[in-house]
Amino acid sequence: MKILVTGAGGQIGADLLPRLVARGDSVTVFDLAPQPATCPSEVRWVRGDVTMAGEVFDAVKAARPDRLFHLAAILSATGERVPHRAWAVNMEGTRNVLEAARLFDVGQVFFTSTIAAFGPGLEPPVGDDVSLRPTTMYGLTKVGGELLGEWYQRTYGVDFRGVRFPGLISAAEPGGGTSDYALFMYVNGLRDGFYEAFVTPESQIPFMYMPDAVRAVLELSDAPRASLGRSIYNIAAISPTAAEIADAVRERIPGVRLTFRSDPRRQAILDSWPSVLDDSNARKDWGWSHEYDLASMSDDLLAKLREPASVP
Ligand code: SER
Repeated sequence: MKILVTGAGGQIGADLLPRLVARGDSVTVFDLAPQPATCPSEVRWVRGDVTMAGEVFDAVKAARPDRLFHLAAILSATGERVPHRAWAVNMEGTRNVLEAARLFDVGQVFFTSTIAAFGPGLEPPVGDDVSLRPTTMYGLTKVGGELLGEWYQRTYGVDFRGVRFPGLISAAEPGGGTSDYALFMYVNGLRDGFYEAFVTPESQIPFMYMPDAVRAVLELSDAPRASLGRSIYNIAAISPTAAEIADAVRERIPGVRLTFRSDPRRQAILDSWPSVLDDSNARKDWGWSHEYDLASMSDDLLAKLREPASVP
């Protein structure tokens, strides 16, 4: 199958691209960033900007993908610093991708939405169909992307589907999110022997280990359309507090020093998100089920980080 992935130079792409190549897909990437050394050599890497419609159209026209995985986005913390850029990338970029899919008959557009689509005050566990009142530029543009994709599906028949990801934890460098403290406890804890998290120990949001996240993308993408009762699905895995993550790291890295100093800006973003998601629609419609809990994720991630040359 021919796959085009936007924004694959980021945290998700680092794990998704090898999986796509391994299963025999012909993969093209569209990203502003240059091809990283770790990217499989089979991948065709096209440099370009999702906010430039012409560049997106040229890339889609040349690649003629069966499926387009749209990962390019400005995340929550960066989005509050550069809100105009976040609007351009997340809103106009998504419109350009959907428009290209319509013009060049792309078989499916896969959208990566987020827990940041939700706003404060929702009773956990938070389901798919609650009122979406995000308070960040990232969150509101992701809600816009969800609705725009559904409009393209209704109006032009573009097969649009996607997931609302929890905070994602992996060995790859994250790209300016608010959930990054969890990953840094492992990566910086192992590399430097200490890390000060920018949240309170009680902070609690949903998280997922990257191998589960990549599997979710592939499983929903492969699901027959007729089995899907909706386009966008909550997916959930674990919801540890920051203190629980720190304890899991301390148990596995003897002598590591993990402390907490809450940064008011990022704490406010975090506190506006749900602590626990309800993903029963994903479980019912396409058989979603997470594999990794906090303990098995911690063991696997630290084993990966301890492999030579893997700590960024
Ligand atoms: N990881 C994202 C962020 O922190 C949430 O989707 O912005």
